[in-house]
Amino acid sequence: MASDDLVIRIAGEGGEGIISCGEILSKAVARGGLNIHAFRTFPAEIKGGLAMFQLRASTGPALSLKQQIDILLAFNQEAYDAYVKNLKKSGTLLYDPKICQPDESLGERRRLELPLDALASEVTGGTRAKNMVALGAALQLYDVPVEYGQKLVQEFFAGKGSEVLEANTKGLDAGYQHSQTYYQEIRRHFERYPDRNQVLVTGNEAVALGALAAGVEYVAGYPITPATPIFEFLCKELPKFGGVALQFEDEIASLAAGIGASFVGKRVMTATSGPGLSLMSETLNLASMAECPLVIVNVMRGGPSTGLPTKTEQSDLKFAIYGTSGEAPRCIMAPVSIYDCFWQIPRAFRIAERYQIPVIVLTDQSMAYTSMNIDDPDLDNIARFRRLRPEQGIPRENFKRYALTDDGVSPMPIPGEDDLRYMGTGLEHDETGAPNYAPENHEAMSAKRFRKLKTLGEHVTQQPMEEYEPEGTEVGLVGWGSTYGAIQEAIEMLKERDGINVAHLHPRVLSPLNEWRIRRFLGPLKKIIVPEENYTGQYSHFLKAKFGIRPIEVHKCQGIPFTSEEIYDAVKEEL
Ligand code: COA
Repeated sequence: MASDDLVIRIAGEGGEGIISCGEILSKAVARGGLNIHAFRTFPAEIKGGLAMFQLRASTGPALSLKQQIDILLAFNQEAYDAYVKNLKKSGTLLYDPKICQPDESLGERRRLELPLDALASEVTGGTRAKNMVALGAALQLYDVPVEYGQKLVQEFFAGKGSEVLEANTKGLDAGYQHSQTYYQEIRRHFERYPDRNQVLVTGNEAVALGALAAGVEYVAGYPITPATPIFEFLCKELPKFGGVALQFEDEIASLAAGIGASFVGKRVMTATSGPGLSLMSETLNLASMAECPLVIVNVMRGGPSTGLPTKTEQSDLKFAIYGTSGEAPRCIMAPVSIYDCFWQIPRAFRIAERYQIPVIVLTDQSMAYTSMNIDDPDLDNIARFRRLRPEQGIPRENFKRYALTDDGVSPMPIPGEDDLRYMGTGLEHDETGAPNYAPENHEAMSAKRFRKLKTLGEHVTQQPMEEYEPEGTEVGLVGWGSTYGAIQEAIEMLKERDGINVAHLHPRVLSPLNEWRIRRFLGPLKKIIVPEENYTGQYSHFLKAKFGIRPIEVHKCQGIPFTSEEIYDAVKEEL
């Protein structure tokens, strides 16, 4: 059976409760047994500006943001003006006639009045609950019983007092009734999947759950949009698992504290975003030099400096790979989906611990704030790895913390547990850890540190990668990070609409590269297209430098993610 999608975009002014409305709607529709892709975008201000929530609910997989929407629920004129162009020809505008006047750009599309203010005022005496009126109206369109919404409204506003709860429940009921009375023609009936063992999570939540599954013991943080929810989640949950989450005065201090905790044997993570990663850069070098394992999640956001803090971009790749003074080995990874955020974090911990290096995991704002339903993650059965410890009974005087080994990895004692001493320092050092500036020593120690990356690169080559290689195709898409879903759906569209087969590669470990496997993938292709959410084509340049290829670069630098339609159009244009 072909899958059935319904995409509703709700938009209005920041502060009007668009996001709360969307969050409750997504949960109710997911509980109603549909697959969810729920995207939000909002301004950096706490109040004002255009906030938008788009819910895509489907009987099949819902992997990406859709450009074409079925229903636009506009809270105000600005929302209408911004998004009417995205409404399908067969789509419907829901609008409050007191606030929004549709113009000729609506064309022949259906318009239905939704008097948000009037309905909210009628049942509550004020307009605060207008977002719940919108919620009720949308719930009915997804054919979800109103009780699902009522239960969630109770949970959502539980801490805000009985008056707020009552007003919002009334608003919800009024919206639902209005929708039942006037919108039957656009209500959708779906095949459903009830009783699934699933949860609805954002990418940030999946990262935090992945960290718990990985056995994280120490989280050092400093709040920064859009990474803050990871830290907030772990501050609440980690103590229940016996771990510690601490806030420091800035990113430099938080990473320094993380290095201290790693030095004494803890599994450590911190989460930040672009400007925070910049601040951490020197401390990161210390982690590479002192060979302290830790995981840094960098949730990429738009632009340099304060830029676009609440918008998405894939623009920290070069900084993550090359942003070192001196040559400091590190591993760079990028999960490909929200579910993958959960799986790649334990993998990042295993790599950090096994190779005693910092691992930077790149997610981005769209992934961080989008929610999807995923199989209930099993926190207890994830493979964990602890760093190599020295053999018992080694005499103190013979211990070499930085011994020159074949794979570059040398045993790391835990102070207080192993009866051994060494100096962990950012200065160049010899095998014992003592500072040493001799020319041959620096060369040998640099080689040791980079041997770990070589060993890791060989290991990565054995690991599964997202590869799709239909026979005989000469065109391939290469992506990284959160563009996976949009690329996959574009490939399906090309197959179904045009009978065109396109290959797809989406590595998760970006550095060190899985060179042999990537070379094999690229080999037979005549055209390689690399879509990226940045202005300059950072991954494309990286591939060019490594493999001498000339990929076709497709850039989007608007603070919002690619839609599958955009990637489809880009491939069609190239063909
Ligand atoms: N009745 C009572 N309270 C309601 C309500 C209702 N009907 N609807 C929403 N609210 C409450 C929400 O519970 C929320 O309260 P909280 O702050 O206690 O959690 C609050 O009103 C905001 O509502 P919400 O739906 O979350 O947001 P919104 O759609 O109105 O948009 C944001 C506001 C999210 C865009 C804005 O507040 C924000 O966070 N902007 C980003 C700020 C940022 O990160 N800047 C970057 C700095 S570098």
